Amino acid sequence: MKEKRSQFGTKLGVIMVTAGSAVGLGNIWRFPYEVGANGGGAFVLLYLIFVFFVGLPVICGEFILGKRSRSGVRGAFEKLHKSRFWGSVGYISILAAVLIMGFYSVVASWTMEYIVQSVEGFSGLSSPEDFHDRFELLTATPVRPVVWTSLFLLLNYLILIRGVEKGIEKVSNLMMPLLFILLIAFSVNSLLLPGAGEGLRFLFHPDFSKLTGEVVLRALGQAFFSLSLGMGCLVTYSSYFKPETPLMRTGISIAVLDTFVAVMAGVMIFPAVFTYGQEPAAGPRLVFEVLPMVFSNMPSGSIWSLVFFVLLFLAALTSIISVSEIIIAYLMDDFGMSRFKACTVHFVISLVFGVVCALSFSSLSDFKIFGFNVFDLFDYVSSNILMPLGGMLLSIFVGWVIKRSVVKEELLAGTSKRGVYRVLATVMGFCLRYVAPVAIAIVMLNCLKGS
Ligand code: PHE
Repeated sequence: MKEKRSQFGTKLGVIMVTAGSAVGLGNIWRFPYEVGANGGGAFVLLYLIFVFFVGLPVICGEFILGKRSRSGVRGAFEKLHKSRFWGSVGYISILAAVLIMGFYSVVASWTMEYIVQSVEGFSGLSSPEDFHDRFELLTATPVRPVVWTSLFLLLNYLILIRGVEKGIEKVSNLMMPLLFILLIAFSVNSLLLPGAGEGLRFLFHPDFSKLTGEVVLRALGQAFFSLSLGMGCLVTYSSYFKPETPLMRTGISIAVLDTFVAVMAGVMIFPAVFTYGQEPAAGPRLVFEVLPMVFSNMPSGSIWSLVFFVLLFLAALTSIISVSEIIIAYLMDDFGMSRFKACTVHFVISLVFGVVCALSFSSLSDFKIFGFNVFDLFDYVSSNILMPLGGMLLSIFVGWVIKRSVVKEELLAGTSKRGVYRVLATVMGFCLRYVAPVAIAIVMLNCLKGS
């Protein structure tokens, strides 16, 4: 017999788990390096536009799909509209989830390594080159990254088998508020550094000459990645919502919280980048080289460093849990597996992908596809191709295939149906039908043309 579908406990719990999914390495590790590599302020501006005009409507779309169908992403489309085509759209999401599991767990493994390094105190390191070499040393050897990645995935597995409410909701409730407080404290610290002015200018002053089709696509990809969109993560989570969970309010809370954390991460990192003469376009290693340097220059730096990397690790954990849940719900819904069995199968698959990604800086570093190593390839394909594509199809589905009355009803469920919400529901409906699919199609086609 099938297990009864789980439900999240409280309204606050719902916001914490969905925000726990959204807020993660995408905000603190990926956002700053994408901003750094793509020219700063103009990227940030585009990112914000995408979050609120494309991201937010797609969040609502995912919620409607999950809550209405009470199904994981693969079956959700099919449940609301029987058709071969829509039934297979969810596979895009499953593929994206598997790829993300691979590279995300490797970045999480770096945070684990840096927790240990913080305890050891980064002794003997002082120049930017020292911190650079330390990171290289860590990633260029095969054993440690593979061990940490496997441990991270094991921990993820142990939480997941505990189930939705006891495992996922509990962890999120505790660590999200902690993360916010700490980020604010570190941002204030960075604002006191001598390079603060230059860092903030880089982050907030838009230089439009830096915009290319590729930069626009990356801003869109970052918005999708950071909000956990276009791969059914929010579809899966909203299938555990109670009937009265207010969708728009939850969606707005996530978009605002997630953006706030990303911008704070920028405020924390760029003043330090300029103060210590680091390269903003350093790519994925940016945060791991800049922040330890900031900490080592602070009084009691190793304690701050330890706290920071522990929280970053926890943020990564709540996000990877949500990526895993996509695959687990699929295995349970489509194959009738028990939760335990689904978690175990998922663990084995993610271990294979995680280890391959972990090795892509060492043993597999010469193995390149289209010039990308496996890690970068998984990151690029999932964030910049599969997630926007998934988001576009989803917005077409919710905007055009599902009945408009159903969309309205779900958007207004749990609200007092006051005027503001009615207007908002109309705006969301419009963005889902027109703005989101058209904007995503233009950005993706433009980029294909340019490449
Ligand atoms: N949004 C998460 C982050 O910012 C990553 C993620 C992507 C989680 C997709 C779930 C689904 O780190």
